[in-house]
Amino acid sequence: MPHSTDLPAPPAFTQREFRDALGTFATGVTVVTACNTDGVRVGLTVSSFNSVSLAPPLVLWSLANQAHTMPVFQACTHYAINVLAADQLDLANQFAQRGIDRFAGVTCTVGHTGAPLLAGAVATFECLNRSRHAEGDHVIFVGEVLHCHPLRHTAPLLYHRGQLRPGEPAQFPESVLSRG
Ligand SMILES: Cc1cc2nc3c(=O)[nH]c(=O)nc-3n(C[C@H](O)[C@H](O)[C@H](O)COP(=O)(O)O)c2cc1C
Repeated sequence: MPHSTDLPAPPAFTQREFRDALGTFATGVTVVTACNTDGVRVGLTVSSFNSVSLAPPLVLWSLANQAHTMPVFQACTHYAINVLAADQLDLANQFAQRGIDRFAGVTCTVGHTGAPLLAGAVATFECLNRSRHAEGDHVIFVGEVLHCHPLRHTAPLLYHRGQLRPGEPAQFPESVLSRG
């Protein structure tokens, strides 16, 4: 039976099947941080990070509509995306937990844009909060990278099939290692 063109057809798969299929796509893990207008830090664990454009340098990530941090990320001018290292699994869990001070015991510095940068991250991207796009139950944030710090030549943390696990260290060529 044809569906009205106004309504999307119901999916031919369950939400469980969709989640399981998405889980086969291995990603890294980030913590996205910002400050509210009172200077209070917010942050959450995010695996939806991806690149968008090299020139201009753009990245994206998505935030669930019901996330408590949504009002801050909708309003803030800048945020930082911290790519977690293999030895930061505890941080990934801490920044996904509800009802706690997610920054408790976490060593941070303040970036050029005012957003917190997590010590020990593999890389950080300090972004202008360039645009936001509401889609389904998430908002897609596109950030313009103003400062980019590839900090550590170390293994990343990975997220695959709903599990966090340390990745393998990459074999860096000498030319990369000599850059620090
Ligand atoms: C590995 C991992 C990846 C996550 N990725 C995202 C994400 O991309 N977007 C998102 O909105 N929440 C993501 N979350 C959930 C958030 O970290 C957090 O738990 C959620 O926003 C609830 O926080 P709240 O109490 O601030 O609403 C992820 C959690 C984990 C453990």
